[in-house]
Amino acid sequence: MFVNKKMKDDLDMNNIPAHIAFIMDGNGRWAKKRKMPRTYGHHEGTKTIRTLALEANRLGVKAMTVYAFSTENFKREASEVEYIFKLPKEFFDLYLKELIENNVQIRYIGHLELAPKETRDIINAAIERTSMNTGLILTFAFIYGGRDEIVQTTKCICEKYKNGEIDLDDITEDYFEKNLMTGDLPPVDLMVRSSGEYRLSNFLPWQLAYAEFVFDDTLWPDFDEEELHRCIRIYQGRQRRFGGVLK
Ligand code: FPP
Repeated sequence: MFVNKKMKDDLDMNNIPAHIAFIMDGNGRWAKKRKMPRTYGHHEGTKTIRTLALEANRLGVKAMTVYAFSTENFKREASEVEYIFKLPKEFFDLYLKELIENNVQIRYIGHLELAPKETRDIINAAIERTSMNTGLILTFAFIYGGRDEIVQTTKCICEKYKNGEIDLDDITEDYFEKNLMTGDLPPVDLMVRSSGEYRLSNFLPWQLAYAEFVFDDTLWPDFDEEELHRCIRIYQGRQRRFGGVLK
C-alpha cells in the first residue's frame, strides 16, 4: 500500500493519459531465459494485464487497450496459437470477479468470429457482464490488424454511402474515427511497447497518429505498476504539440 501511495505521489494526477495502448512483447524471451516453454511466458503475461488494468483504473485512466493477438500471429506454431486462444478463459476465470468489483468494462476489437467457440463465448460473457461498468475500459485487440481495421471501416462507410444514408461530405476524419472498431474510446495518448522492440506491428495505425510512444526494455511478464508509473512519468515530461508550435 505504501509503495503504491509513494508511486502515485510522483505522478501529476492532472495529466494522466486518458487512453494507454500496450504492445505486450517479450513473453517468449522471458520464458526462454527461464528454460521454460514460450507458453509459460504468455501465461505469466496475463497476470501483467490484470496488474496494469487495476493500477490504470486506480489512477483514473479511462481506457487501456492491449494487443493480445494479431492477424499475423496465426503464422506461429499451431500449439502456441491454440494455447493463446485458451488464455481468455484462464484470465477471466481468475480475474473477472475482481475486475467487476473494480468497475472495469471489458471490450474487444478484431475478428473474434475467427476464434474457437469456447474463446468467443468466454470473451462475450465478460463483455456482457461488464457492459454497465463505468471505470477503466479494458479492450483486447484479439485477432486484430490495423490495416484490416481501416479497410473494414472504409467498406462499412462505402456501404452507408451506397445506401444513401450519408453524403460524401459527411466523411470527415472525425466520422471515420468514430466508425473504427475503437469507436467511442478517447484518443490514444500513450503507446507503450515492452521488450526493446521498436515497431508498431500493425497496431492501431490510425489511432496512434498523435500518441506519445514509449519503447521499454522490460519484458512483458516483468512489467508492473512501477514500470507503468515510469512510462506515465515519461509521457508527462513530453511536450505535446499536435502539429502546433512549442509554447
Ligand atoms: C508477444 O510475446 C505477446 C503475445 C503474442 C501476446 C500473448 C497474449 C497475452 C499475454 C494475453 C492474451 C490474454 C487474453 C486474456 C486475451 P512474444 O511471444 O512475441 O515474445 P517474444 O518476442 O519474446 O518471442
